[in-house]
Amino acid sequence: MAKLGVNIDHIANIREARKAIHPDPIAAALIAEMAGADGITVHLRQDRRHIQDKDLRLLREIVKTRLNLEMCAEEEMLEIALSVQPEMVTLVPEKPDEVTTEGGLDLMQHKDLLAERIQILQSSGITVSLFIDPDLSQVKMAHKIKAGYIELHTGLYAAAGTTEKRTEELDRVRQAAKLAQKLQVGVNAGHDLNYRNVAPIAAIEQIEELNIGHNIIARAVFVGLEQAVKEMLALVK
Ligand code: PXP
Repeated sequence: MAKLGVNIDHIANIREARKAIHPDPIAAALIAEMAGADGITVHLRQDRRHIQDKDLRLLREIVKTRLNLEMCAEEEMLEIALSVQPEMVTLVPEKPDEVTTEGGLDLMQHKDLLAERIQILQSSGITVSLFIDPDLSQVKMAHKIKAGYIELHTGLYAAAGTTEKRTEELDRVRQAAKLAQKLQVGVNAGHDLNYRNVAPIAAIEQIEELNIGHNIIARAVFVGLEQAVKEMLALVK
């Protein structure tokens, strides 16, 4: 049964839109956990457009489930991760002008740097996951550079405009998950998952955890965060 990591970046997005103190991502993490979330995920971006360093440090204090820090592989982020010690770091590509993470990491291109980062993070006790497209060659490379986990990018599955395309993209996620399991690499998945499209992904037996943000927070605006998390949990489980 898949676990649910709730990404609370968009709580901080609302706060930062007014440079205010509310809504507070710390309160959001507490509510998400009380609603049954299995983990809390945040992306500390280099431009600090939503989550701030102080949020991350406070989250480390209060999160009782598991803290998953999404970040790029730059030196500055590495140092922050080593000092904050989240349970998991998910390495993601990051472009300054993107609205959200646009695709998976290109492991072939960055294998040496990523292998070094993985080794440093793992030797300090942090589990490392690599956000990649559901592409078999990327899965093989993740294994080769000794990542403990991959997070499969579900964006193309979510964006598929026809049933045929959606089935094709779902199959790519399935095949990538199967290969990862065979190589003994743990599998998470996420991006653009919502209340309508999550069930087939959650049903893939190799997937341990789904990281979902935007749709949960969007629904929370109308029904409250506790209810929004519970509804997603019911679909994921
Ligand atoms: N996983 C990763 C690696 C991400 O970068 C994001 C977006 O921050 C998510 C999952 C969550 O995506 P969404 O907000 O579309 O649910």
